[in-house]
Amino acid sequence: MKRPLTVYVAMSADLLHPGHINILKIAAEKGRVVVGLLTDEAIASYKKAPTMRWDDRRIVIENLSYVDEVVKQETLDYTNNLKEIKPKIVVHGDDWKTGVQKNVRNKVIEVLKEWNGELLEVPYTEGISSTEIKNQIKRNGITPDLRRTSLKNSLDIKDYLTFADIHNPLSALVIENTKISNDLGYSEFDGMWASSLTDSTSRGKPDIEAVDFSSRFISLNEVLEVTTKPIIYDADTGGLPEHFSFTVRNLERAGVSAVVIEDKTGLKRNSLHGTDVDQTQDSIENFSNKISIGKDSASTDDFMIIARIESLILDKGLDDALNRANAYIDANADGILIHSRKESASEIFEFCKEYKKFKKQRPLVVVPTSYNHVYEKELSQNGVSIIIYANHLLRAAYPSMVQTAEMILTNKRSLEADDHLISIKEILNLIPGT
Ligand code: SPV
Ligand code: MG
Repeated sequence: MKRPLTVYVAMSADLLHPGHINILKIAAEKGRVVVGLLTDEAIASYKKAPTMRWDDRRIVIENLSYVDEVVKQETLDYTNNLKEIKPKIVVHGDDWKTGVQKNVRNKVIEVLKEWNGELLEVPYTEGISSTEIKNQIKRNGITPDLRRTSLKNSLDIKDYLTFADIHNPLSALVIENTKISNDLGYSEFDGMWASSLTDSTSRGKPDIEAVDFSSRFISLNEVLEVTTKPIIYDADTGGLPEHFSFTVRNLERAGVSAVVIEDKTGLKRNSLHGTDVDQTQDSIENFSNKISIGKDSASTDDFMIIARIESLILDKGLDDALNRANAYIDANADGILIHSRKESASEIFEFCKEYKKFKKQRPLVVVPTSYNHVYEKELSQNGVSIIIYANHLLRAAYPSMVQTAEMILTNKRSLEADDHLISIKEILNLIPGT
């Protein structure tokens, strides 16, 4: 018979490995094991959102012989659960003394003192960690199905998502791998924006749908080959509805999560020109028809068609934008992108305010290029679900290349430029296997 003493173990268990089993086995030797299974939101607060949702992870954990009970742990911080359950022992691997979990550990020790509880730290199982397994999976690639669904999954779990522009596989790897962790928490981009502007620009062509879908699909495939995060594809106007149908099928099959089409027709010019150039908005009827054809062409519910409204760009006013949002949602759009080129975000916030009143709610997407002073939090509080940094990585790369070119031309050698460059050692190690 087990002693009635309660032992508490918190875990994410998105990828169960022998290290977890070792901890649970040691916990079971001490008493009755209660697992605080971190909720999807709690995991997303300090690392990448889980692949398996809470209910699925619960089924795995509660069927392990070492586990007596599974409860939800709603935050990375154990305090609430500990105060309620008052376990005699908390078991954790000894690998949390530094990094994001250091403060969590200190708090656990502090709270346990209230009833003379004890923290038992199990030596880290060498050679096994979820991060290493995940890196291995990354090296092996991801299936198109898993990648495609990951956008809807993340939308369910997180308050808002951030995307940044890709214009080649290297920029995609920057989005895939850049992470920061500081006192404010943990942060990484949720996915990639396959921008028409940066894709065209990096090929030295104007952003007028001159780079055809077949060419863009080749570069997209190169990105898909080396990354795992969800992709939102900028399909400009979507072209003819009959052609859009093929675009949808190709993107969906490749594992892209969403396509954005904008309600313009004729020669498309970049939205940030506004009314400085001739641009024609499509009729509500035509564009709704294109959305419906796109939806009918998709074979999964995961693939999203996001309708982008250009009314504010073209000075057609808020009412027109709202009217169109309503119509596009009726035509089955899975999301709305409202674009603006104003430095003030007031027209976006006015739109958000009215959009919140819609009966049929769909995720709202924004591209805060001109109103870049607004923090993500404020956009999210106004109901925005996806924030796209549409061109920033390309805009960062270009001036840096020009500066280096000028330095070499000025000095007639490259020594002076070296301080601004990634070293040869670093570039050789950047891509494993070089
Ligand atoms: C893009 O990145 O290609 C876009 C966004 O469509 S914008 O350039 O702001 O129109
Ligand atoms: Mg574009």
